[in-house]
Amino acid sequence: SIVPVVLAGGVGSRLWPLSRSQYPKQCIDLQGSGASLLQNTLSRTRLTAGQPIILCNEDHRFLIAEQARAIGVQPMSIMLEPEGKNTAPAIAAAAWLLATKTPDAIMLVLPSDHAISDQQLFDQKVALGAELAAEGALVTFGVEPSYPETGYGYIKANGASEVESVAEFVEKPSLDVAQAYVDDGHYLWNSGMFMFRADTYLAELEKYEPEVYQLSQAAVKDAEADLNFMRLAAKPFAALKSISIDYAVMERTDAAKVIRFPAIWNDVGSWSALWAIGEPDANNNLLRGDAVVIDCKNTLVNAQSRLVTAVGLSDLIIVETDDAVMVAPVDKAQDVKKIVEQLSKSG
Ligand code: GDD
Ligand code: MG
Repeated sequence: SIVPVVLAGGVGSRLWPLSRSQYPKQCIDLQGSGASLLQNTLSRTRLTAGQPIILCNEDHRFLIAEQARAIGVQPMSIMLEPEGKNTAPAIAAAAWLLATKTPDAIMLVLPSDHAISDQQLFDQKVALGAELAAEGALVTFGVEPSYPETGYGYIKANGASEVESVAEFVEKPSLDVAQAYVDDGHYLWNSGMFMFRADTYLAELEKYEPEVYQLSQAAVKDAEADLNFMRLAAKPFAALKSISIDYAVMERTDAAKVIRFPAIWNDVGSWSALWAIGEPDANNNLLRGDAVVIDCKNTLVNAQSRLVTAVGLSDLIIVETDDAVMVAPVDKAQDVKKIVEQLSKSG
């Protein structure tokens, strides 16, 4: 059986001021679809897979439980992390939960911040991934790169077929290296979704990060049940190092396979990513909420609590909420997280 493992522990600081530490990005309706990114992620697996495991920070437990309930999803468990330790420990905790009862369960690891446009194709790729995972592969989904993004992992496929073994996995290369990969033509972007059996992941983790393997086991063994929540044991969890699955396992394993995945996928990481999932006007302005622009181009206006107007602007992002306004040029969209860092320093 396929168990969705939904990673909902990030904050999404590049989407400030819409994302807040108490209200993270995955809980927001960023697509304007009437549902949050998390709810869309949960809905996406409804036909192909069983009850999901959701992993999130303790602080967001009620928000996340309510969002699942609101769309009729009954999670197998909502596992609570006392602090963020990135994705390798979170995925390990889910694997340990499954390992006792169904070690051959196939985990479908999903980030909760993706927009995916073609449901049928997604289902088809997941079905193919399940076959490979059942045989012991660590399955990745690779997207043709269109520019040298340095925020992604790169997968070198051993050929051009739909399914290939992986020659090399490189997480977040420098710009020079990313450019060389795009030019090379054999590299794909790592989508950030994975499929493998729980026991496969744990065996690979034991090989490459034995401490993460042991401490995550302890965190699950001594976890406390609380309603449908499973509170991971604080002491072993605090001792875990913070490391992503990409660095901990994917860069090192020999068991990786890649399934080609057309570009129906979008990582809604920053304000500039919204153009790909929104509906810009003829001048490439993206208006959300009560917004009026005149003589503007390539400008995003997100008005939440009042009328926002602009005249004669280009290449700008304007985000208005109840208690904060953020303005930035489009090419500085990645730096919005610096505001959050600055604000949390000054308290
Ligand atoms: N539960 C939990 N706990 N979830 C977490 C944690 C954590 O400590 N840290 C991050 N997440 C969640 C995020 O909310 C997101 O849904 C997912 O895990 C991936 O984390 P990101 O922080 O967004 O990773 P990334 O975007 O830098 O890189 C990953 O995704 C790229 C594609 O979007 C990597 O897998 C890259 O290789 C990949 O290209
Ligand atoms: Mg991401």
